[in-house]
Amino acid sequence: MTADDIRRDSGSDVRRIFEKIAGYYDRMNFVMTLGRHEQWCREVAARVAPPVGGKLLDLATGTGVIALAAARKYPAATVTGIDFSEEMLSRARTKPGAGAVRWQVADAARLPFEDESFDGITEGYLLRNVDDLGEVLREQHRVLKPGGRLAVLETCPPSGPVKSAVEWALRKMVPLLGQIVARDRASYAYLGSTTLAFVSPQQIADILHELNFREIGWHKKFFGTNVILWATKSR
Ligand SMILES: C[S@@+](CC[C@H](N)C(=O)[O-])C[C@H]1O[C@@H](n2cnc3c(N)ncnc32)[C@H](O)[C@@H]1O
Repeated sequence: MTADDIRRDSGSDVRRIFEKIAGYYDRMNFVMTLGRHEQWCREVAARVAPPVGGKLLDLATGTGVIALAAARKYPAATVTGIDFSEEMLSRARTKPGAGAVRWQVADAARLPFEDESFDGITEGYLLRNVDDLGEVLREQHRVLKPGGRLAVLETCPPSGPVKSAVEWALRKMVPLLGQIVARDRASYAYLGSTTLAFVSPQQIADILHELNFREIGWHKKFFGTNVILWATKSR
């Protein structure tokens, strides 16, 4: 399967990719971000700042890096990590501190939670994988309490003076690293192509604003290839 085939596929095929890469996901992330991914996940967790005893939801939790950072930072909070890949969740469940998080198989497009049930939502690298960005963000708005915070880690289409160099890295280097580290060029070609095709932080912010989120901001990382974006649901 090529990256283009994967891009054309539906959500269930995206899920299969993540089932397949679960075993080497953390290692590849470490290599591709030169070890920065964990620090970004801690920053995302710090952005949601729930009240003592609050409820946090980490979407597309994968191997659980953000959920575990949140559980460590807010020991009095209830942290739930959801993902539609059982394989990714099985890696999360074996990590130190995993007992402090409720892990659940669920689709971010149809969250199995009541309206206004969480004080904060975090997510890493979910949005560029979904078919309908507006629908997924609307679900997040629905389950957040008024005044609840959202913090997002995502890749970012390249712009500015490093644009061509980053485009080259995403097209050539990332699939090559996938081949070398994980013997899986196609899945990482998918990562590069979804990043290149994804919307800008400003476009995500515009959708959030339409959904009645406020206090929206973002901070780009790592030559503009990644972004941490935050917003608060209006009261
Ligand atoms: C690139 S991984 C990110 C994992 C983790 N958040 C991190 O920052 O390392 C993307 C995750 O999103 C999950 N995912 C993608 N689409 C999803 C959806 N619609 N519902 C739930 N999980 C989804 C995949 O299974 C995968 O575990």
